[in-house]
Amino acid sequence: MKTAITEMFAIEHPIIQGGMHYVGFAELASAVSNAGGLGIITGLTQRTPELLAREIAHCHDMTDKPFGVNLTFLPAFTTPPYPEYIAAIREGGIKIVETAGRSPEQYMPALKAADIKVIHKCTSVRHSLKAEQIGCDAVSVDGFECGGHPGEDDMPNMILLPRAAEELKIPFVASGGMADARSLVAALAMGAAGMNMGTRFIATKEAPVHDNVKKALVAASELDTRLVMRALRNTERVLKNKAVDRLLEIEREKGASLKIADIHDQVAGAYPKVMIDGDMDAGAWSCGMVAGLIKDVPTVKELIDRIMADAERIIRDRLVGFLDGAGQEKSAKVA
Ligand SMILES: Cc1cc2nc3c(=O)[nH]c(=O)nc-3n(C[C@H](O)[C@H](O)[C@H](O)COP(=O)(O)O)c2cc1C
Repeated sequence: MKTAITEMFAIEHPIIQGGMHYVGFAELASAVSNAGGLGIITGLTQRTPELLAREIAHCHDMTDKPFGVNLTFLPAFTTPPYPEYIAAIREGGIKIVETAGRSPEQYMPALKAADIKVIHKCTSVRHSLKAEQIGCDAVSVDGFECGGHPGEDDMPNMILLPRAAEELKIPFVASGGMADARSLVAALAMGAAGMNMGTRFIATKEAPVHDNVKKALVAASELDTRLVMRALRNTERVLKNKAVDRLLEIEREKGASLKIADIHDQVAGAYPKVMIDGDMDAGAWSCGMVAGLIKDVPTVKELIDRIMADAERIIRDRLVGFLDGAGQEKSAKVA
């Protein structure tokens, strides 16, 4: 399949693996890129720019296909040395950066000077337009369904994607709630040039996380995520667990006076405990509603091949079938 995104990033399939804290290591990024998608290493999971340089080199050892690095600009207890991270990205020969959180405006000159394509993740049309205006090459439009930070507008993709298509000149991918061929074809129908998946890629053989995490995703339904930190205007969609129950209790007690320090125990340092140790109640970790659509743990290649083959069937049989008047008999079921 050829779209503006496959052309822009020189990839075979219009499928991107979004940056994920303590998940987006070289093992997963290289597997996605080797399967024809775009794998992304999560920059800030590497505690220093030197460690990021090592992770990039490790990924180059495992794939000769394009892959990117995610740089997230979110409120943090201490601000990371972004210019040094960008230097590691540039010196590692990376040509694609996924930015997220705050606007990457201040870092655009450095990224563009290194001939790097920037895809910025946005949860609203206005932020997407701002990304276009500051010179981003593409946008990842992240709906309310998404795992991680959906922003504060609560706009689901059925509205957000067509609105983005109405306003944007640069290409965009759909992000949030994307799991399979149905997601991809629907995203394309709404104007996207591909899709970005986070949660779905965690439940793959190559995702370098504890098996408990993959089992939790297969077991979870679409009803099992919760929104936390709304009072801090740093809303995050996470999988429900004991720590999240406690966090929500504290949020109810504190109301609008909630401070990040009040929920420190439920948030800080949760990722390594969950992702590496498999302690599923250790703290809040991002997870999308799409968990309800995850039923297995395939290899990345099996997942991507299945998505592309099913997408072709949906388009050629089901959709064209409807036009030919044969849709119902030929391909009524897409699940
Ligand atoms: C466990 C996890 C960690 C994430 N960490 C980050 C991150 O560090 N930076 C970022 O930009 N996005 C992060 N995300 C968001 C993903 O890149 C992606 O935008 C999101 O998962 C898309 O929604 P989906 O989970 O419904 O596919 C994370 C998502 C998950 C599930």
